[in-house]
Amino acid sequence: MKILAINGSPRKDGNTAVLLNRVLDTLKAKGFETELVQLCGEQIRGCRACGICKKLQNKKCVYAQDIFNEIFSKMLDADAIVVGSPTYFANMTSEIKAILDRAGIVNRANGGLLKGKVGAAVVAQRRAGADFTWLSMNTMFLMSGMFVPGASYMNIGFGSDKGAVAEDAEAMRTMDDLAENIAILLNALNKAK
Ligand SMILES: Cc1cc2nc3c(=O)[nH]c(=O)nc-3n(C[C@H](O)[C@H](O)[C@H](O)COP(=O)(O)O)c2cc1C
Repeated sequence: MKILAINGSPRKDGNTAVLLNRVLDTLKAKGFETELVQLCGEQIRGCRACGICKKLQNKKCVYAQDIFNEIFSKMLDADAIVVGSPTYFANMTSEIKAILDRAGIVNRANGGLLKGKVGAAVVAQRRAGADFTWLSMNTMFLMSGMFVPGASYMNIGFGSDKGAVAEDAEAMRTMDDLAENIAILLNALNKAK
């Protein structure tokens, strides 16, 4: 089974990447196939509300001048999707918001392509706002018939400088617990199929 992680931070290999890699490392050790995609500040536009995805129903967004369709196709291939973002003024980055909005709409336009997959969100913050960011990121999963596992706390970590979040021991434990629950849920869903 495949796990796709998407890092919405413009900062490559920063705190969000540390959190995501911690989750992926545990899942990889359990035999899952893992991939991390880092958006690195790539220009990704938001949903234009044109409705063409609903007319074409080809599992794609008609706006093909950015990397959205490439990422969405990876989302469709994955059994679990873990999205990560740093907190930007108490919310996710514009890049990951653009991906989640368009993924949510193309999913709906095509009769629920994400339904039954596992979804989780992780968030890095310097001081405050990650809890709202985390809830906000989970919304698209919860509205798309996806299964969202819990961990031992909110999936958030503290850190400002690149990599500092690795010193947040509770965050690291939370990522391990999240990975454990993703594995349990995926195995149970696979059995139920
Ligand atoms: C534009 C901008 C807005 C930010 N807003 C917040 C905020 O509201 N709350 C907070 O705790 N940290 C805020 N931060 C700090 C980042 O969330 C924090 O440094 C995070 O660890 C960066 O993760 P990264 O290394 O994955 O990019 C902000 C940073 C930037 C650049």
